[in-house]
Amino acid sequence: MWFPNKILMTKIPFALFAATAAIAVESLACGQTNSATPILNIDASKVTAHVSPTLYGLMTEEINHSYEGGLYGELIQNRIFRDDATEANHWSVVQDSGGTGAISLDESQPIEGTVLARCLKLDAIQASTGHRVGIANDGYWGIPVKPKTTYRLSFYAKSDGSGNGPLTASIESNDGAKVFATTQVPAITSTWQKYTATLTTGDDVTPTAATRFVISTEKPGTLWFNLVSLFPPTYNDRPNGNRIDIMQLLADMKPTFLRLPGGNFLEGRTIADRFPWKQTIGPLEQRPGHSGCWGYGANDGMGLLEFMEWCEDLHIQPVLAVYAGYSLKGEHVDPGPALQPFVDDALDEIEYVTGDASTKWGAERVKDGHPAPFPLTYVEIGNEDFADKSHSYQGRYTQFYDAIKAKYPNLQCINTCGPVAAYPTADVIDEHHYYNAAEQAEIESNRFDTFDRKGPKIFVGEWATREGRMTTNMNAALGDAAWMTGMERNSDVVIMASYAPLFVNVNPGGMQWASNLIGYNALTSYGSPSYYAQKMFNTHLGDSVLSVTSENIPTQTWQPPARRTKPGEPPATPPPPKQIPSLYYVATRDSKQGAIYLKVVNTAGAAQSVQINLKGVSSVAPEGTLVTLSSANPGDTNSITEPTKIVPVTSKATGLGNTFTQTVAPYSVNVLQIETK
Ligand code: AHR
Repeated sequence: MWFPNKILMTKIPFALFAATAAIAVESLACGQTNSATPILNIDASKVTAHVSPTLYGLMTEEINHSYEGGLYGELIQNRIFRDDATEANHWSVVQDSGGTGAISLDESQPIEGTVLARCLKLDAIQASTGHRVGIANDGYWGIPVKPKTTYRLSFYAKSDGSGNGPLTASIESNDGAKVFATTQVPAITSTWQKYTATLTTGDDVTPTAATRFVISTEKPGTLWFNLVSLFPPTYNDRPNGNRIDIMQLLADMKPTFLRLPGGNFLEGRTIADRFPWKQTIGPLEQRPGHSGCWGYGANDGMGLLEFMEWCEDLHIQPVLAVYAGYSLKGEHVDPGPALQPFVDDALDEIEYVTGDASTKWGAERVKDGHPAPFPLTYVEIGNEDFADKSHSYQGRYTQFYDAIKAKYPNLQCINTCGPVAAYPTADVIDEHHYYNAAEQAEIESNRFDTFDRKGPKIFVGEWATREGRMTTNMNAALGDAAWMTGMERNSDVVIMASYAPLFVNVNPGGMQWASNLIGYNALTSYGSPSYYAQKMFNTHLGDSVLSVTSENIPTQTWQPPARRTKPGEPPATPPPPKQIPSLYYVATRDSKQGAIYLKVVNTAGAAQSVQINLKGVSSVAPEGTLVTLSSANPGDTNSITEPTKIVPVTSKATGLGNTFTQTVAPYSVNVLQIETK
């Protein structure tokens, strides 16, 4: 787990702020300076940069139950019994009204022609009408029950020859007292067969996840089960698809790309644990799953094709990260012949994504049900390879780069290491910036102002202000928004940016990384204040960055935290307090429509009136639109129980013209849409 910002934070002296903004430094007891009215001078005739059309995207990996127990629709946990070799985790035996039975894992009944070697055995010892025996799965913190909902069930089963059946499948309360949906599967043969059915809830059920899924029999005998799968309705009705509510939250952000499949999840803890893309394609029966790297295994139902279809559903491009021979615990593969199989594997992967039916791996994709190749512009070589203490990345990167460019000259290669000078061949450099305090993100928001315009482009492939748990709070949204003003202002250099991590299952044990963008449980999902700040930025974005100069930008005092000490060490002396601006801003213009989007972030706890001077336009409509995200307390947040406590509010802005005053609320992120000609 890396926090590269810790290194980067020290590189940019605070003094740089003085170069880009006029700062009043007189400090009040409350921290906020008492200066003249802040002024923003927008010159629409001066375009300082063109906005990258791919600026705001998404980043994903299997962390915090992002897919399993998250976006991926599957409701059965441990469906192929790979979690543990001895215990059937998440499964239990059902013995009703005197029925008796037992469950166990069984490796003596593999399903031929598949990777499904370990299955669940049910010995129904005493079972009869009204005395059922069965297997129950507790899902991912419950099976979501909603009214009028149809669930698609499939499973493999065989019986011991006594012709066991019919079986009953049901979604029911945890004590079995209440059945929400049920169906029957007629006869189970003595050879492995796949059975399918649907279960539908009634109109009047109250949504709940205090539930389990059960398959039961009322006859004695032995039954074996494998690949037990239950899907709710999915986005675009994909058979192996994604949860609708979470996809909708993503679609609403209007992202332009998806970086996948990691992050650390790409690398794995060891080379053997890396993302095994070839094992994640084809029928689910051929996917053995792998260990993942965030404390739980991956069944890989969300495989390479599903990642691509996820992009397709959002009408965006993948940014495909390929494993580059370095894993988290420090194992690496030396450049040269030993690395070549990994390079070849990456070329195969690119071919699977982009090749037509005449290519080996393109044909595989066609066989997997997707005839059309996917668009692909960017391939990322590895993840956070600055952590490789063997310093082999330069050689590894070059070997991948040369091979990719030789076969796919149009692809752009992303380097994960930098510094820029060491990698003259890098088309794009991926930088990761995590800030533990909003003020750090605010201070760093001018990072790109001085970047060399002739150097490689920057992809901020992971970034976040890490305040709030398990999803971020309003203060994080303020830090994020300030940071985004800097990326947006410099989006001739910063061509892409994706926040991380994207998702968290908020149930106990669901989270591995404390601050995340979107939270959910089995039933519902919500966006954090950071989510809404991003959505506001992305859905109000012109194509040209306009010159904005400022006067009288107030500052406030920030006390940076003391360095953390080891147990037994005396507490460290905190660094001296800093004066930091309390207003951050950027303006872009839609050159076709004329709309100017002025984003102003007020990090102070008091409203601020800002004078806006606008020149370089022939007319300004007196009315515009103001979208504001704010909260009285920067620690406030959204949650499962209060999912929309902090959301953007749209109001009419009046009195606009070439000079006007706009008041921004305390602790607020604002987009002022000004209509101009
Ligand atoms: O976003 C969480 C982790 O942070 C990513 O997996 C890794 O790339 C970074 O260190």
